[in-house]
Amino acid sequence: MSFKKISLGLLAIVSCAVAVSLPQKRAACSNGRIASHASCCVWFDVLDDLQENLFDGAQCGEEAHESLRLTFHDAIGFSPQLFKQGKFGGGGADGSIMAHSEIETNFHANNGVDEIVEEQRPFAIKHGVSFGDFIQFAGAVGVSNCLGGPRLQFLAGRANFSLPSPDLLVPEPSDSVDAILARMGDAGFSPAEIVDLLASHSVAAQDHVDPTIPGTPFDSTPSSFDANFFVETLLTGKLFPGNGSNVGEELSPLPGEFRLTSDFELARDPRTACEWQSFVNNQALMVAKFEAVMAKMAVLGHDPRTLVDCSEVIPIPPAAKAQVASLPAGQSLSDIPAACAATPFPTLSADPGPATSIGPVPPS
Ligand SMILES: *[C@@H]1O[C@H](CO)[C@@H](O)[C@H](O)[C@H]1NC(C)=O
Ligand SMILES: *[C@@H]1O[C@H](CO)[C@@H](O)[C@H](O)[C@H]1NC(C)=O
Repeated sequence: MSFKKISLGLLAIVSCAVAVSLPQKRAACSNGRIASHASCCVWFDVLDDLQENLFDGAQCGEEAHESLRLTFHDAIGFSPQLFKQGKFGGGGADGSIMAHSEIETNFHANNGVDEIVEEQRPFAIKHGVSFGDFIQFAGAVGVSNCLGGPRLQFLAGRANFSLPSPDLLVPEPSDSVDAILARMGDAGFSPAEIVDLLASHSVAAQDHVDPTIPGTPFDSTPSSFDANFFVETLLTGKLFPGNGSNVGEELSPLPGEFRLTSDFELARDPRTACEWQSFVNNQALMVAKFEAVMAKMAVLGHDPRTLVDCSEVIPIPPAAKAQVASLPAGQSLSDIPAACAATPFPTLSADPGPATSIGPVPPS
């Protein structure tokens, strides 16, 4: 009996050792880091370079915001509807916005993305990675620098070849909810998933809707991936933070904060308002839904089974400060007209102190 036990134990040790040394293609990468697949090693080097030289030492600042934005502007250039009509519908997350920047950054909806494209391109070329991979990687690393940020999946192996995306596939802030739902629906996203994607506006700012106030954020905490965006878009609008009313702009509740028309409308539309409200007191849900929808967006135009999972390279983000959004100081629940018919608005407390004013973008 006891002999049998021992030999079984030995067997377990032996088979365990075999499992460890066997297939995986585990590889030793730079600085003692280990990847589950040798082809992921290069991304550790890209990571080091980006954190130091693009994100100013792993900050959730303007470059992180713009890198996250670029993931969308590249990927959403994908239309099954156009393919059905016998036309080229775009290659999705294929790097075409970088490879064909002279065409795509001139699309009206891509106003301003040329800056981050030009900043990023030398990094991609230096490390010999495809533009499509690079754009999704940079966005995932950038947003991992934000407090409470998501840890996005990162799959590598997109071809470097692309054709220019057709114009008019990127939704604009001045588009109607109907138009946004139709365009995003064509690319495969439900109304709720559109809201999930908009969690990105928690760490975002406008530059060109009102060009007189570039860098004006969409919520009071643009370095923190928190739910404040979902509350502040619901507050009653009172002012224009810059030079009056622009196309795609609505009244904002706070000085120094910008409100896009599309955010204003999606927050209040019966098709999207309940998903919007669901994040107000549940930051973890917002992160989980964002991770799921970004995993879908990042592989638009690709068969994910042909890509290699290098998610382990993406840093673990710093923890969130709070699970529940707070009302900016000086605001009360009466400043929030109910938009979701199914569920009452959760009780939130207001920040103490004098009324919130954001002014110029706070450094992270
Ligand atoms: C990808 O294509 C661009 C040209 O669009 C080129 O500059 C770059 O070196 C290519 N990268 C790789 C990894 O082949
Ligand atoms: C602000 O808007 C006014 C029109 O309302 C325009 O005449 C003026 O040039 C704008 N200022 C700047 C700095 O763009």
